[in-house]
Amino acid sequence: MSDTVPIEHPSWLTTGDFTAADDPLRLFSAWLKDASASEPRDPTAMTLATVDPEGAPNARMVLLKGVDERGFVFYTNMDSKKGRELDAHPVAALVFHWKSLNRQVRVRGPVERVSDAEADAYFATRPKQAQIGAWASKQSQPLESRLAFEKAVALYAAKFAVGAVPRPPNWSGYRVLPLAMEFWHDRPFRLHDRIEFRRAAVDAPWVKTRLYP
Ligand SMILES: Cc1cc2nc3c(=O)[nH]c(=O)nc-3n(C[C@H](O)[C@H](O)[C@H](O)COP(=O)(O)O)c2cc1C
Repeated sequence: MSDTVPIEHPSWLTTGDFTAADDPLRLFSAWLKDASASEPRDPTAMTLATVDPEGAPNARMVLLKGVDERGFVFYTNMDSKKGRELDAHPVAALVFHWKSLNRQVRVRGPVERVSDAEADAYFATRPKQAQIGAWASKQSQPLESRLAFEKAVALYAAKFAVGAVPRPPNWSGYRVLPLAMEFWHDRPFRLHDRIEFRRAAVDAPWVKTRLYP
């Protein structure tokens, strides 16, 4: 995990009526805790949508590696398609869907890179094979054969056989700063509950609205 601050979540958030919540990041934290207990795997998996050079949406899965009052952090190769798209248009949307809970959370907002110190700290926690993979993968670029990739992995494994593996310069994290968050929970007969939180800026107060399902 990065050097993020854990968010406290009182039990009423999970047991009571979630539409009464007034802090979306605390509510998110409570739902993630619930999902961590009930999802068979990857409760932190989320869809990340970016904007491509033609202005079209582009979406793929990534893993949430840190969340706190500032926002939602994931890590990737910055020369990948998503990295280039985020550098050109630093805005994103995230979607979490926890099937075991029938809950969905949507997040939208501007994106910034995490600090080098934060990325270094997280990279250091990864298994060595994954660290070597980060050096060997030119993520999203054409790959002539599986063998070519395996050769690159072997090359970096030999290069970093001894000692700690440094973080590749093109590998880091991005933080989505939420300006809108929506919580959805299924109810019988599709009369679902939806609440949306919006704020004009990261230091502005949240405004909550209930939405028709
Ligand atoms: C469950 C799941 C989690 C993933 N997590 C990450 C991740 O944290 N970072 C990442 O770069 N790619 C992750 N991937 C791979 C991405 O979905 C994607 O294939 C890759 O990042 C290249 O995307 P791009 O070409 O749009 O940049 C994950 C895939 C799955 C299915």
